[in-house]
Amino acid sequence: MKAIEIRNKYLNFFERNGHSVIPSAPLIPENDPSVLFNTAGMQPLVPYLLGQKHPKGTRLVDFQKCVRTNDIDEVGDNRHLTYFEMLGNWSLGDYFKEESVKMSFDFLTKELNIPIEKLHVTCFAGDKDCPKDEETANVWKKVGIPENHIYYFGKDNNWWIAGEEGPCGPDTEMFYDTGKPACSENCNPSCDCGKFVEIWNNVFMQYYKNADGSYSKLKQKNVDTGLGLERMAMLLQGKETPFDIEIFKPVMDKLQELQKVDNIHSRRIVTEHLRTSMMIISDGGRPSNVDRGYVLRRLIRRMTRHMNNLQINLDELANIINLYIDTLKELYPELDKNKEVIKNVIVEEKNKFIKTLTNGEKEFNKEAAKLRSENKDILEGKTVFRLYDTFGFPPEVTSELAKENGLTINMEEFNKLFKEHQEKSRAGASQKFKGGLADQSEETIAYHTATHLLNAALKIVINKDVHQRGSNITAERMRFDFSCDHKMTEEEKAKTEELVNKWIQEGLDVKCTEMSKEEAIVSGAECMFIEKYPDIVTVYTIGDISKELCGGPHVKNTKELGTFKIKKEEASSAGVRRIKAVLIK
Ligand code: ALA
Repeated sequence: MKAIEIRNKYLNFFERNGHSVIPSAPLIPENDPSVLFNTAGMQPLVPYLLGQKHPKGTRLVDFQKCVRTNDIDEVGDNRHLTYFEMLGNWSLGDYFKEESVKMSFDFLTKELNIPIEKLHVTCFAGDKDCPKDEETANVWKKVGIPENHIYYFGKDNNWWIAGEEGPCGPDTEMFYDTGKPACSENCNPSCDCGKFVEIWNNVFMQYYKNADGSYSKLKQKNVDTGLGLERMAMLLQGKETPFDIEIFKPVMDKLQELQKVDNIHSRRIVTEHLRTSMMIISDGGRPSNVDRGYVLRRLIRRMTRHMNNLQINLDELANIINLYIDTLKELYPELDKNKEVIKNVIVEEKNKFIKTLTNGEKEFNKEAAKLRSENKDILEGKTVFRLYDTFGFPPEVTSELAKENGLTINMEEFNKLFKEHQEKSRAGASQKFKGGLADQSEETIAYHTATHLLNAALKIVINKDVHQRGSNITAERMRFDFSCDHKMTEEEKAKTEELVNKWIQEGLDVKCTEMSKEEAIVSGAECMFIEKYPDIVTVYTIGDISKELCGGPHVKNTKELGTFKIKKEEASSAGVRRIKAVLIK
């Protein structure tokens, strides 16, 4: 069964079972500074898992584009992927364990026709925070899973949370028995030997894990599930690796045809990283030196290096992207729409890197030969640093090359040198530090200043403990997330608007001063992520109503802003509210 058929069957099945189909959120989270990419279907739904009403009801189903980068260095083996698609269905305080298990069972056995004997399931074993999940195990028995295919495990295996804090709960996981021989007498689904492959995870989200590690009960009991599309396609097609399914095969074959050196590891890396890069770019990501931009840069660089390993002419890249988009456009029509931009960004980034790569690799090979002649196998940190500092050669590339050459690198020493270097250059570069606005049009600058006014107004209208938690600005509007434990009343919203507009009309001057970070904090300047700022910071004051540590830029006087209007106030995540507002000129 092809991936697209699996996806369609999934959406249809849950739609028939009363779920509303919702679209995939973009890969790049709309306003969650805590994660780089959406890593699970539940992520864009957090406010609803916490109790906010979803406009589409209490039963939802979707496919979600996800990127997980923690295993980026493993890609190239026979299973790891950085981009994957997660099929998911949700109950927002609607059905719970019994119905969830029954629907999963029916979907697997009746829609995908997986024989019952291939299925093994795991349930939560219970601990001080939450009892043993016999209820779920009993439903599995009732639907026909034999008792010796049901296992209990603790939090390590059967508990799900995204990160350290947030909605969470015990889960039940479904495994597919590949039929490979058991690795030992004790072989079971928690084992990594490859006999059992996890196919679906149903999380019974009924707790909230607090920052202090304690658990509170959620307002409602939810179900959050995730089924990996590529993995399911691989199993149903009887393939050994995801790279053999129709999503990747045409590009894998093309690379084989073009290569002058055979290396399956490199072919997989090129194929995998290229897809992830295309998906990120299509959803608006661009290469840069920070955060998600750097992930994208790293993916494109690594892909380029492995194309080089295969000795494929890099001018073929655009053709390979064309072929890839043709292969994937049924699943992701947006790739076809953004084809030119995708090609331009990838080719340009590849061109930038290629010179660095050629010079750096030459230098690396010299160093490696020297080590070999001295019978040594550790590349010193200062060599890694020299490659980085003089040749612009990224340490992760040096590390990968070292591994391929049977060498290890002294990363600790490199990190020390790198830190020293960073401190030195920071002192000099503090003048140039910019805090956030990528697009510096007149409109976005005005909105940026408006976020400072709003921040100050909320402290007066709600209370002084309100703090900014995030913001997102375009030329058309601003979004502002802030800590607050309740939905704002109409009166609070009106007062906030009034205050911001009063300050705008007063024509307050916006001033920028440079000072040390300590000085800024002591002076009471507001700041969102203190550790993200260099030692010397810029502080913006607006009249005497606002003082914030910020990279700017801002308008010179508040009268440039126009009229401030709140369009919407809603929940963003636990204890965080979001205001959407516009400036009317
Ligand atoms: N959120 C759950 C997962 O990612 C379903 O596995």
